Amino acid sequence: MDDAVSIIIRPLKTRDRRAVEEICYRTGYNGEDLTGTGRFNDHRLFGLLFSLYYTYHERANSFVAVDEDSGRIAGYLLGSLDTIAQEKRFSRLWTARIAARGLLVSWWRYRESFSAMWHFSSVVHTFPPLSHIHREYPAHLHINLLPGYQRRGVGGRLMEAMEARVRGAGIPGIHLITSDMNLKAVPFYLGRGYRILMELSPGIWSDAPEARGLVFGKKLT
Ligand SMILES: CC(C)(COP(=O)(O)OP(=O)(O)OC[C@H]1O[C@@H](n2cnc3c(N)ncnc32)[C@H](O)[C@@H]1OP(=O)(O)O)[C@@H](O)C(=O)NCCC(=O)NCCS
Repeated sequence: MDDAVSIIIRPLKTRDRRAVEEICYRTGYNGEDLTGTGRFNDHRLFGLLFSLYYTYHERANSFVAVDEDSGRIAGYLLGSLDTIAQEKRFSRLWTARIAARGLLVSWWRYRESFSAMWHFSSVVHTFPPLSHIHREYPAHLHINLLPGYQRRGVGGRLMEAMEARVRGAGIPGIHLITSDMNLKAVPFYLGRGYRILMELSPGIWSDAPEARGLVFGKKLT
C-alpha cells in the first residue's frame, strides 16, 4: 500500500456495518488476525459479541477512518459515553440475538466458536466488578485498524475524535480493556496518557490463560 495514504475520520454510518464486522475479526485475537487460525470460525457470532452492537446503538459515539483513494474503511473506534447504561442495554437487546446465533448456528456448524464463547463468558464472570471504574471513567472505547493501516497515525486521529466527543459531552473520563499480549495497543495507550487501573486474569482465550486483561483509563476534565 502507498505510504502517503490519505485518511478521513467521520462518524460511523449504518452502511459501515459489514466493514466493522470484518475489521473486528481481522484484529480479534489480541490485536492479530483470526482468519485461518481455527480459533473462532463463526465471523457473525464474533461480530455479535464484540462489534455489531455499536453499529446499531452507538453510531453517535463511534467513528471510522476511510481511505479517501479507495473508499475502503481502514479502521474504527467504537464507543459509548455511558458504560453502565450501555451494559444494561446490551443485555436487554443483545443477549437474545447472541443466544439465538449460538444455539441455532454456531453449536451445529462452528463448535469451536460456541466453546470459545462459553469460555469467554465463564472467565468474564470471575472478574471483579468494574463499577468504580465505570463511575470514574464512564465512557469506553474499542479501536481496531486493518493491518495495512496500522502505525501511520490513524489510530491517534480516531482517539482524538472520540476524546473530543467525550469532553464535549462533559464526561469526566474514558476507559478500555486490552490484553498484556497486545504489543501494539499497550504502548499506544500509554503514549496517549492512559494509565493501567486494574489487571484481570486469566486471559479470555483458552489457549492463552496466562494473558492478563489490562483496564486502562484517562481523565478528560
Ligand atoms: C493499536 C492501534 C489501534 C494503534 O493505532 P495506530 O494507528 O497503529 O497507532 P498510531 O500510528 O496512531 O500510533 C503509533 C504508536 O502506537 C504504538 N504502536 C502502534 N503499532 C505498533 C507496533 N506494531 N509495535 C509497537 N508499537 C506500536 C506505538 O506506541 C506507536 O508509537 P511509535 O511509532 O512512536 O513507537 C492499531 O495498531 C491497531 O488497530 N492494532 C490492531 C488492533 C488492536 O490491537 N486494537 C486494540 C485493541 S484493545
